[in-house]
Amino acid sequence: MTWGIIGTGRIGSTLARILVAAGRPVVLANARGPHTLGPLVAELGPAARAVTVDEAAHRADALVLMVPFDSAEGLLPRDAVRDKVVVDAMNAFGAAGVPRDFGGRASSEIVAGWYPQARLVKSLNTMHFHTLAVAGTAPGDRLAHYVAGDDTKAKEIVVEILTALGFAAVDTGSLHSGGILQQPGGPLFNRPLTEAQALAWISR
Ligand SMILES: NC(=O)c1ccc[n+]([C@@H]2O[C@H](COP(=O)([O-])OP(=O)(O)OC[C@H]3O[C@@H](n4cnc5c(N)ncnc54)[C@H](OP(=O)(O)O)[C@@H]3O)[C@@H](O)[C@H]2O)c1
Repeated sequence: MTWGIIGTGRIGSTLARILVAAGRPVVLANARGPHTLGPLVAELGPAARAVTVDEAAHRADALVLMVPFDSAEGLLPRDAVRDKVVVDAMNAFGAAGVPRDFGGRASSEIVAGWYPQARLVKSLNTMHFHTLAVAGTAPGDRLAHYVAGDDTKAKEIVVEILTALGFAAVDTGSLHSGGILQQPGGPLFNRPLTEAQALAWISR
């Protein structure tokens, strides 16, 4: 299963490194084009390919959006993401770093509205990239990553990869309720927690 990572900045390049380290092939796309990804692809080796966003959307079996929130609307070709798992790992911040207000909706519900053909899962948005780089292989209790979404099978696919990367996958519920728990302003955002700690926060 090839994962397509859209956005290869701090978090996207970190995810690419740990996926490749776990033996998973990746295709990578950014804004400036594949020719700018030479050093990262050289570092990652033959399991990684630099492509355009369109190519990534068509070639990958599942995609992760790791671009600024406002860049994601209309970015993926709709035909390419039909019935495909798309992970929304983005956080919607407004001015001065304040979480954006979507009138009670989770930011992932906005993304789902942009890509109604896709099987959207909110995941990989809560953990700082420095932590993501090392936590999956660190000794001790696994840290939690979360899945929120309305498609059970899609969540299972994301749970499989989170587990393979060395994390405890915690289901937070629907795209609406789980998304709100996971996004900035929610109790699970940017707070490294073990599975037990995460479940305690969710049940409060
Ligand atoms: N930083 C974290 O620890 C962290 C953790 C979890 C989630 N997130 C979320 O992940 C997203 C990215 O954060 P980041 O910190 O990695 O940002 P970043 O370092 O600024 O990287 C952003 C990436 O998005 C790409 N990009 C921007 N517009 C694009 C477009 N129209 N088409 C294709 N690629 C585009 C950029 O391409 P170029 O390289 O060509 O400019 C860059 O690779 C944000 O939504 C953030 O909230 C971040």
